[in-house]
Amino acid sequence: MLTKEYILKLKKSNPSELSNLINDNFNNIKSLIFILEKLGFLNKQFDPNIFIGLISHPNEQIRVLTIKNLGKINNIALIPTFMNIVENDESSLVRREAISSIGRTRNENSILFLCNILLDKDPKIVGQAIRALLVFKGNKEVDEKLKKLSNHKNEMIKSVIYKEYFSNKKTNKSILKHTETYDFLKNVVVNGDVQDILKFVPDESIHLTFTSPPYYNARDYSIYSSYEDYLDFLEDVFLDTYRVTKEGRFLVVNTSPIIIPRISRAHSSKRYPIPFDLHTRLVNIGWEFIDDIIWLKPEYSVKNRIGGFQQHRKPLAYKPNTVTEYLMVYRKNTDKLLDWNMKQYDYNTINESKVQEGFETTNVWEISPKSDKVHSAVFPMELCKRVIEYYSYKGDLVFDPFAGSGTLGRTAKFLDRYFFLTEKEKNYFEYMKTFQVETALFEENKTKFISLNEFKGIVNENN
Ligand SMILES: C[S@@+](CC[C@H](N)C(=O)[O-])C[C@H]1O[C@@H](n2cnc3c(N)ncnc32)[C@H](O)[C@@H]1O
Repeated sequence: MLTKEYILKLKKSNPSELSNLINDNFNNIKSLIFILEKLGFLNKQFDPNIFIGLISHPNEQIRVLTIKNLGKINNIALIPTFMNIVENDESSLVRREAISSIGRTRNENSILFLCNILLDKDPKIVGQAIRALLVFKGNKEVDEKLKKLSNHKNEMIKSVIYKEYFSNKKTNKSILKHTETYDFLKNVVVNGDVQDILKFVPDESIHLTFTSPPYYNARDYSIYSSYEDYLDFLEDVFLDTYRVTKEGRFLVVNTSPIIIPRISRAHSSKRYPIPFDLHTRLVNIGWEFIDDIIWLKPEYSVKNRIGGFQQHRKPLAYKPNTVTEYLMVYRKNTDKLLDWNMKQYDYNTINESKVQEGFETTNVWEISPKSDKVHSAVFPMELCKRVIEYYSYKGDLVFDPFAGSGTLGRTAKFLDRYFFLTEKEKNYFEYMKTFQVETALFEENKTKFISLNEFKGIVNENN
């Protein structure tokens, strides 16, 4: 029986027997894969001819493993063989492995070849060639060729090039540490239009935004002249939000498609796919798409849509009752990994912010909606709790541009985060104040309820 020990023994003391073993197993794919996977380190003196016959093996995985082993030998005499494979093998995986093996040799004579590979149609091949070429970063010819890829059609390639060559040219970095924010934003509720208010909020001061924007023409507080106007408005708000968000931090937007009832029996009602239309706009601003979470409600809460169909059951007229909303999760674009964000916090904060056992492991969150005597569309606290716990650390500043009754603020406070809220309607602003009396969750001395003018004054004082 073939064992790893036996293969390693042959590799060391009897290469010709290893060669025979490989030839004997040419058609035994399983054994051949086993042999090729167990060879481990191969030094420069190892005879590549042992593998050469496998380069054109019909099995793709065998070819990949063969080239991997040839690559380990790290012999520049093999570069023409690898180049030949890159040019002629039909498998993208095999070609990538051959490029990687060329890269391993770090041989400047392969630069021209690798630069030509940058024109390949397969973005994965181009990505591999970029990796191989980055070994020579600083070489004028290589830098010029790679920088040109900043206009490449493929977003992964663009992002790698941006990260390597252009990322430190960003402006308006916050003067504060990543974990800190301005005191004048902590536990503050401002009554006014969010767009007017955000003009006075400094760059990179918010750790997390979670919001449910006003509906399109669905409720009395949200009248826009057209759907495009409505999306333009949201885009503007989330562009400002982008500016005030700290590097690599999150925006979670709760929306759902909405139905506008028909004007008369001669017309049909229209459904607007808000999460999907908004998504493209957010991504264009620079928000990186991270996740789509479905908020599942135990039962539908608006008008029954399936009633007619239930009676006649004629195909085409099927209109299910909606029991879901979306929580779309985005991250402010950065070349830094999440690890960087997490490492900004001290040991205690990380420990205290750890999410408790029993957290939701899927992207379907079943949570009952909440009704409220004053505001018609409030967040259930459990929804805010999950978003805050999963996407922020204790002591962070959490923002809701469309605060309504202020559920996010109260939950943030409860979870030892700070909040910054904006709300246009005076009656909802006044309503928020009542919570500090009724539930004492807003501590009177800490929560500031202020007008736009008062906010401007406070910001100016602190500048
Ligand atoms: C869907 S509700 C949010 C409810 C909130 N999530 C809660 O838990 O109570 C949207 C809110 O955005 C407010 N709003 C609409 N346009 C606004 C604007 N331009 N600036 C600030 N608030 C606005 C509305 O008055 C409404 O209260």
